[in-house]
Amino acid sequence: MTAAGTALAGGDVPVPVPVLELERASKVYPGSPPVRALDQASLAVAAGELVAVAGPSGSGKSTLLHLMGTLDKPTAGTVRITGIDVARMTDRELAGLRAARIGFVFQQFFLAEHQSVLGNVADRLLYAGVRRGTRRWLAIQALDRVGLAHKAAARPTQLSGDERQRVAIARAVAGTHDHAVAARTRRRIEMLDGHIVADTSLAAGRAAAR
Ligand SMILES: Nc1ncnc2c1ncn2[C@@H]1O[C@H](COP(=O)(O)OP(=O)(O)O)[C@@H](O)[C@H]1O
Ligand SMILES: [Mg+2]
Repeated sequence: MTAAGTALAGGDVPVPVPVLELERASKVYPGSPPVRALDQASLAVAAGELVAVAGPSGSGKSTLLHLMGTLDKPTAGTVRITGIDVARMTDRELAGLRAARIGFVFQQFFLAEHQSVLGNVADRLLYAGVRRGTRRWLAIQALDRVGLAHKAAARPTQLSGDERQRVAIARAVAGTHDHAVAARTRRRIEMLDGHIVADTSLAAGRAAAR
């Protein structure tokens, strides 16, 4: 998730607004019988946080991601992006939100094969008017986040499918300014039968283990 919002709560201490919030969000697919694919899931994701969603097939991962990406709406409960209730937005506002705030990496993605991994990630910043040196620096940061800084000079054809997908993720997140804050926070959400059964931050785990 990209982009941060801050609000002043009470005194003068800025409180970060989560970029993404689910509050008791449920999704029931109609049918006989109906399928309760997501059952009152609640979570909040901060700007720059890296979150993995895991769980067996049919546990509700895709349903959860569709709600997070505003590709679908919950049948009950609330989904907020940067504090705004998705259900209250018009289609036009939603389209704007997706364009500005949400990056999707689909299973079918495209990397330019004639270019290095670094170039593939850096080029995404061309249209943002970022200078070449800064583009490359931001690209390295993004590659580092997905554990691929050492493959910066490789061509996409020299990577595994998993590595190529991680390059696509680096490209989707390159250029946000809040990486440093949460780069070490890797959170894992586990799903089972439409429920979030675990929500762990590996960084918190490491801190506790010290
Ligand atoms: N469009 C749909 N209509 C009816 N049931 C669906 C639909 N999409 C998913 N489901 C059901 O919802 C449950 C969760 O599915 P899904 O979110 O795709 O899980 P996962 O991505 O973890 O495999 C499953 O039981 C699945 O069969
Ligand atoms: Mg799925």
